[in-house]
Amino acid sequence: MVVENNVALQPYNTFGIVARAQRLVRVRSTDDVLALLAGQDVRSASGAAAFVLGGGSNLVITGDIKQLVIKVEIAGRRLVEETPRGWLVEAGAGEDWHAFVQWTLEQGFPGLENLALIPGTVGASPVQNIGAYGVELQDRFSALDAIDLQTGQSFTLDAAKCGFGYRDSVFKHAPAGEKGLGLAGRALITHVRFWLPKPWKPVLGYAELDRKMAEAGLASPTAQQIFDAVCAIRRAKLPDPAVIGNAGSFFKNPTVSREQCADIIAREPKVVHYPMADGSVKLAAGWLIDACGWKGKGVGNAGVYERQALVLVNRGAATGGEVMTLAKAIQTSVYERFGILLETEPVVV
Ligand code: EPU
Repeated sequence: MVVENNVALQPYNTFGIVARAQRLVRVRSTDDVLALLAGQDVRSASGAAAFVLGGGSNLVITGDIKQLVIKVEIAGRRLVEETPRGWLVEAGAGEDWHAFVQWTLEQGFPGLENLALIPGTVGASPVQNIGAYGVELQDRFSALDAIDLQTGQSFTLDAAKCGFGYRDSVFKHAPAGEKGLGLAGRALITHVRFWLPKPWKPVLGYAELDRKMAEAGLASPTAQQIFDAVCAIRRAKLPDPAVIGNAGSFFKNPTVSREQCADIIAREPKVVHYPMADGSVKLAAGWLIDACGWKGKGVGNAGVYERQALVLVNRGAATGGEVMTLAKAIQTSVYERFGILLETEPVVV
């Protein structure tokens, strides 16, 4: 295993931000990780944890990274088990998420089609509990294998232990953070297993997806047809990171109480809102940002995407600082107009 010095990180983050890693090491197997940990303390001299890099698709880099960067390139996809009740499939953390979804469909294991075309790696998918068009990773998750970067111990976590929430998990929280048992900076995910139940049932109900199905006259779509529709919807409104740097949705959709929502509707009758099962109401952050006039605007080379205000983009050589200044300006204007503090989604390093 080779530790490379002074490595350019621009190709490794979908925002395309220019920055360097002082030291970077690629791991291609569980044994690589164990050998790395046996050979050295991966914490920096100041005690900072190593930085685990997946596909870099949910990341804003605000400067050169001084900690050791561990780039996870663990490959492999396999059917672990098929029973009358479903398929258990596994992938290495370094596998590309979308290619993995495609592979499951090609093999005849449907269930992940609503999550097509999400950028990033399989190993990063549980970290923010990726979700789209009515399905969240936690709905198809079985378990994951990880290695504790401090002790070198391997461990397996089921869904309950991952503490999944909306774009959230234990992997986003510091060990001493408010969620108690956070694993940020502590765990390196090596493999993820998914449970795809039989009989397969389409997940519809998301307005845009239903509209697409109705247009195509598909009353009982197949998994492949849903996959194709999701790809078409995403391609139409979300920027392709290979063309314009971005990290997907930059803010989470906020949740407010029913009273708070009624108050906002009284002032802004068009606000896009979805009542939740627990009585709270989710608001479309993209709509709130759009209503504040941000579409197409920006700070320096960081901008707000013209077709979806929830996505910040790199229009040239944007720095992480410009992206964060823009994010703060958006948060301020949404707060001033609606009294809502938007929470950011990507990891900022
Ligand atoms: N809207 C506007 N203006 C905008 C953007 C959105 O008026 O500029 C309105 C839309 O018209 C729609 C509503 O806001 O009525 C919601 O928009 P959309 O359906 O595009 O979904 P979203 O809430 O913006 C979420 C996820 C996406 C996911 C889609 C589909 C979050 C933060 N984002 O976006 O996830 O693909 O739903 O399920 O939950 C991601 O997390 O990176 C991501 C792309």
